[in-house]
Formats: sequence, C-alpha cells, structure tokens
Amino acid sequence: MQTTVADHPLIAHKLTQLRDSGTDTPTFRRLAYELTTLLGYEATRNVKLAPRQVGTPVGIASGVRLARPVPVVVPILRAGIGMLDGISSLLPEADIGFVGLVRDEETLLASTYATRLPDDLTGRDTFILDPMLATGGSMETVIRMLADRGAATVTAICLLAAPEGLARLVTAFDSDVPSIHVVTGAVDTHLNAKGYIVPGLGDAGDRLFGTI
Ligand code: PRP
Ligand code: URA
Repeated sequence: MQTTVADHPLIAHKLTQLRDSGTDTPTFRRLAYELTTLLGYEATRNVKLAPRQVGTPVGIASGVRLARPVPVVVPILRAGIGMLDGISSLLPEADIGFVGLVRDEETLLASTYATRLPDDLTGRDTFILDPMLATGGSMETVIRMLADRGAATVTAICLLAAPEGLARLVTAFDSDVPSIHVVTGAVDTHLNAKGYIVPGLGDAGDRLFGTI
C-alpha cells in the first residue's frame, strides 16, 4: 500500500481552518470541497488515459481523454458526501457508487446500512471518499467491497488520517492486487480513547451536516 501525505501550503492553510472549532458549518463545507479538489489533483495523478485527437481553429492537436470504463467514485456516507462535489468537479465523467457505514461509539466497529455499487468493477480505477481515517475499520470494509468486485486500483482520499488506521490498512492489504493508495492532507498523532483523531477536527459528519 502506498500513502501520500499531500504537502502543499494551501492544503496546510485550509486544513488548519477546517480543524478550528470556531469554523461554522457553511465554511466547513466549502473547505471540505476545496481540500478535496486539491487532494483529488494528487489522487488522480495516475488515472488511465486514452489518446484523442481534436481539431483546433488552426490545426490538429494530439491529446488525451479519460480511458473507458470511466473511474468509479465511492463516498462513504455520511461524511464522504461532503467530498463528492469536490471530486466531481475534477472527474465529472466518473460513475458514483455509495456505501453507508456507521461506527458504534462504544465498540468502534463499523456496520453497513447501505450498499449501492456496480457488481463488477473489473479493471476499473476506484476512488473512496471519507474525510476521516481513524481506526481504519470503515475504510477496510469499503476497500474489501471494491476489491471483491475486481477493482484494479483503489485510491482512498481522506482529509485526515491517524497512524493507527494507516497501519491497519497496511496489515489488512499486504498483496499488490488491487493496488491501494491512500492520499491524505495530514497524518495526526494518535487516536483518543473514544477513537477520535487527535488533534483532528472532531466529528466530521456532525460538522458538515449538524448533529443527529
Ligand atoms: C466517521 C467518519 C468515517 C469513520 C472513521 O463516520 O466519517 O467514516 O467515522 O472511523 P474509523 O476509521 O474508525 O472507521 P461515522 O461512523 O461517525 O458516521 P457519519 O459519517 O455518518 O458521521
Ligand atoms: N470520525 C470522525 O468524524 N472523527 C474522528 O476523529 C474519528 C472518526
């Protein structure tokens, strides 16, 4: 598994604003959008292309287009929805699947309440969206769903990650198939006793959508 901590001054600047407990919900949503576009730029660096020629007003240009079949983007409900517009602005052609997971506050185990994915992902590039990689349980569940359906590559885009979650994924996926890449804005120091990333940003879903 490959991990990329996106090292860019704008990402560091926006992540700091995002973490700030004084940041209100509309600003938090806008920052999540902007950070996803910046992380998405890094995460899509190896997306597959096919050659394409176009006529310009003054000649023929040899260019490229996204290869077919197009990539599949999978936000993890609920908080991953806050990253969907950002990646869609970069990959408007992508298909979109959904997985709904919720983490038990006591056991920290993630359970699945919704799955809407193509049955066959053979040969396809896939991108998972989840702002928080904490214990890694939610991400491990969704990577397995995509791997079981034959995805060629799985790229997880996270705003923040904990070392514990990254270590769990390294142990869980020790072969090269599918190729797994985690792109994150930062790796924080640790998880607290309640499974929250420290210093983190608190509950991403609540900050995006309000407390349920
Ligand atoms: C949060 C977060 C991740 C998950 C990370 O979701 O959005 O999906 O926890 O934790 P893990 O790495 O320990 O599995 P939560 O279960 O709170 O649901 P929500 O998105 O509906 O708020
Ligand atoms: N989920 C969150 O929303 N925040 C954390 O810090 C950990 C899991």
